[in-house]
Amino acid sequence: ETAERMAPVAALVRDVPDFPEPGVLFRDITPVLADAEAFTVVATELAALVGVADIVAGVEARGFLIGSAVAVVAGVGVVPVRKAGKLPRVAASRRYALEYGEATLELPEGVVTSGNRVFVVDDVLATGGTAGAACALLRDVGAEVTGFGALVELRALGGRDRLVGDVAVHSLLTY
Ligand code: PRP
Repeated sequence: ETAERMAPVAALVRDVPDFPEPGVLFRDITPVLADAEAFTVVATELAALVGVADIVAGVEARGFLIGSAVAVVAGVGVVPVRKAGKLPRVAASRRYALEYGEATLELPEGVVTSGNRVFVVDDVLATGGTAGAACALLRDVGAEVTGFGALVELRALGGRDRLVGDVAVHSLLTY
């Protein structure tokens, strides 16, 4: 069962108080990725959710790491969803709200097209702003988003509720 397989992974998540600001408890997944067995469990569990998708989209920056591993295990390719200003040619661009201010995500040109089925991967689901923008971008180019998977879900920030009816949300660890 997933919960059982995730126990040693959960034990490696490091709690960092007061980051990025006072009063916030940051869940640092760096030790999970650094542990071969734990990282394999994460990649395998998320890869099992890829299903009919023919490509994985990994969201900058930690979503690149996890998304790439998921793609390899699932036997599909990976496309990076990037922060604004990094890509030479942009197929689609979406602004989204951060806790303070806004940011923009971009999709590279010529990789994902209509007819593609895409599974989106990130490290953390918090408010859902990032995941929502990533899904919107992919739909802008005509792709079908088959689901979103994160290693960590921060329940109190409401991302799952915000994404309900938009995309099927999966997470391996919930806080
Ligand atoms: C973090 C995390 C997710 C996003 C989740 O990324 O990696 O992508 O926030 O938050 P949300 O659900 O409220 O949108 P961050 O923006 O810190 O960028 P980084 O991964 O490049 O550090």
